[in-house]
Amino acid sequence: MTQADETIGLDDLSALRLRAVEILRNNDRGGYTVPTDNLYPFQWNWDSAFCAMGIATFDIDRAWAELESLYVGQWSNGMLPHIVFHHVVDSYYPGPEVWGASHAPQTSGISQPPLTATATRFILDRAGGETRSRERAAALYPKILAQHDWWARERDPDSTGLVGVLHPWESGADNSPVWDGPLKGTPATKTSFNRRDVALVDATMRPRQWEYERYIYLVELYRGLGWDGSRMWAETPFKVADVGLNAILMRDERDLRALAEQFGTAAERERLASRAAQRQRGLESLWDSADRTYYSRDLVTGQRMPIASYAGFLPLWGGVDDKARVAQLAAELQRWLDLCAFGAPTMAPNSPEFDQRRYWRGPVWAIVNWMLGDGLARHGCDDLAKRLRDDTRRLMELDGFCEYYDPLTGEGLGGGAFSWTAAAGLAWALG
Ligand code: DGY
Repeated sequence: MTQADETIGLDDLSALRLRAVEILRNNDRGGYTVPTDNLYPFQWNWDSAFCAMGIATFDIDRAWAELESLYVGQWSNGMLPHIVFHHVVDSYYPGPEVWGASHAPQTSGISQPPLTATATRFILDRAGGETRSRERAAALYPKILAQHDWWARERDPDSTGLVGVLHPWESGADNSPVWDGPLKGTPATKTSFNRRDVALVDATMRPRQWEYERYIYLVELYRGLGWDGSRMWAETPFKVADVGLNAILMRDERDLRALAEQFGTAAERERLASRAAQRQRGLESLWDSADRTYYSRDLVTGQRMPIASYAGFLPLWGGVDDKARVAQLAAELQRWLDLCAFGAPTMAPNSPEFDQRRYWRGPVWAIVNWMLGDGLARHGCDDLAKRLRDDTRRLMELDGFCEYYDPLTGEGLGGGAFSWTAAAGLAWALG
């Protein structure tokens, strides 16, 4: 029995797991899962991949359906959009008319951290050798490959090994302090708009208005460029090699290589192997040996962005194998954890940017803990992995399955009854 089992108790654990299943079922809109009711009323890309893994713990068929419905939104160039607007409702801004992308069903025009190869492997493992699951994985494989080819072709046109994100939303960590610099060099939209998020969630927990004005400016700029990837790459004021996204991409590509062993051709396996070597060199170029951390890079100015965020630890999930490097990252993460009651915070609690309640500027996210905990365990850092798992359980027990949590008080923040938090419970923390 672990320490968390002792504090939480096995009956409480089962009750929590049942509640997590209930949340994923309630947020099912018929073959796809919304992140939470009202605040996010469509299918989001990386949310769905996490949900698929959570759902696979109790319903394999429905887990495959989650990934299949996400790929209904895939563009012909391979891009997997960050939102698929299966059924349009007006509780969210910016809706499909703001994106102006020509796809049926309607979608946004940017992507999000790729986790579908990882999710496919996860579901396959859970399904054992079941034939129907193998068929569904085989059908998904070329779509996932096309998506990775898109990242390589359109978001790393100079073959540096690092892909760039062209919108803060594409990183998944919308209002990370790391984006403050490039966003200050991005114009504000001249369009007046009505944010729906701050009507649903306290504004102190959400991105600020000045950031939203730039988020919308970028959407309008790209819409004006007809979502043409090479023009977007050339003309954007916001282009960053986010260490977090690159690490998640590397993990997904590793899982894709494993899928290619079963479902791919020799030429595809070769292409993925040479891409992996290139990515490794790219990631290495983000390592700062003086500060012993990974920093993202601004691809417009070419400058490194020396603000440490949780993303600097994500190479533990995908990208880092060197023991000494792992030990350095683990020591730094331990330092962050020593400064808070519940880890892992998205920013160091003693950093000037830390804001304990505001979205990606401080709060704890269960899916981040899952990625870090999995990476730490894989590298043999069992104590630290256990600390993250125990903290995640305690947060779920204290305040349910919230979007994120205050690392100093444990208070649940943002949206409630949140799908990917429930999925993180089922597939990892409450297992
Ligand atoms: C939001 O609306 O807050 C999303 O994170 C953007 O996709």
